[in-house]
Amino acid sequence: MFGFFREENALVCDGVPLDAVAREHGTPLYVYSAESIRRAYRELDEAFGAYPHRIHYALKANSSFAIARLLHRSGSGADANSIGEVEVAMRAGFAASDIVFSGVGKSPDEIERAVQLGLKAINAESAGELERIDRAAQAHGVRARVAVRVNPDIDAGTHPHISTGLHTNKFGVPLEHAGELYRRMSTQPGLEPVGIHVHLGSQIISTEPIHRAAVVVVRFARELRDQGIHLDHIDVGGGLGISYDGSRVPTAAEYAAAVLAIVKPSGLAVAMEPGRYIVGAAGVLLARVVDLKPAAAGHQFAVLDAGMTELMRPALYGSFHRIEPVTPRQARELCYDIVGPVCETTDALGHDRRLPALEVGDLLAIRDAGAYGSAMSSNYNRRPLPAEVLVDAGNATLVRRRQTIDDMLALELGGS
Ligand code: LLP
Repeated sequence: MFGFFREENALVCDGVPLDAVAREHGTPLYVYSAESIRRAYRELDEAFGAYPHRIHYALKANSSFAIARLLHRSGSGADANSIGEVEVAMRAGFAASDIVFSGVGKSPDEIERAVQLGLKAINAESAGELERIDRAAQAHGVRARVAVRVNPDIDAGTHPHISTGLHTNKFGVPLEHAGELYRRMSTQPGLEPVGIHVHLGSQIISTEPIHRAAVVVVRFARELRDQGIHLDHIDVGGGLGISYDGSRVPTAAEYAAAVLAIVKPSGLAVAMEPGRYIVGAAGVLLARVVDLKPAAAGHQFAVLDAGMTELMRPALYGSFHRIEPVTPRQARELCYDIVGPVCETTDALGHDRRLPALEVGDLLAIRDAGAYGSAMSSNYNRRPLPAEVLVDAGNATLVRRRQTIDDMLALELGGS
């Protein structure tokens, strides 16, 4: 058994009791299962079998250094959305040739550095960006490997805040303009077209839009080939969803089948950028109840020592995360609104949750918080970034200590 499960009623991570981990390191605390991360990576990798493919783990989901290193050691490449993520990836061991650099607004400094490093591909978002990459590459006497991110105007059927593949979204270049950009590259000596990139959105729970996007980009790559422009890979982006509430989502095998059915006949290698699928279920946020009080309609408020500063997803997207007592009491169930300590009404982690009666000091686990949890945490209300623990082979290791007020003020002139 690996991941999060119950042993004698108490929630454990890879067999290590979460209660003990929280007592040692305090709360709020992120705890990750190394084995869950490795297995998710391997499952996806194996789903693509012998067909040429490369997984570039999307660091934006969770770029904690220990996790970046773990994925590097597991054999993954990296997808970075800022030069900061590129630098973290390189320090974690990823080779420049194994990093793809996506992102909608690359600054001149970012382009400069990316070109110097010689990344596997810069996924370009516009005609203007291609020109800037070309100029930077020529200035350094190199050719930058690029892929154009196309926007196929396909609805991924996901939350509007995390949908990216529609023409109304800011991402990429409309497919009908992309051909011109590839043809122009023959006059841009700093550019080497190596791929085509598409990313429809995140938490996609049907293979249908993924299949449709594959159809249009493969057709497009064929048209380019007929014009003498030969690419190496199709980057299908990230987006594969996970089940937050137990409902059925596509498996890695179904995802791979949907992509390969279309890409295989083209012979082009598949690159992909999964984030959530690899780390989402592999992390929990542990928090303690700091206050209890009656709410409207017979509900109770359970106020935790974690909130939107540690896990912003419920406040930002209304996302659902399971919330469970680490060691449930033998008590009658009550209906809780589970809220954080931040001075915002939207600062809640879950509504209408039936849990055995809680007491102040009880430890709760907010499940499936490995992706876009820690990575989106903030210092709002001067709350320190939480500590993080990685459990591997029965050992729970602190991989990020809790931020202190001194850490925060160290950046501020005259503050310390
Ligand atoms: N590639 C690109 C170009 C992306 O924009 C993203 C995510 C990914 C890959 C990875 O997507 P994934 O496999 O993790 O779905 N904060 C939101 C999700 C934002 C996703 C942004 N881009 C959330 O918490 O649901």
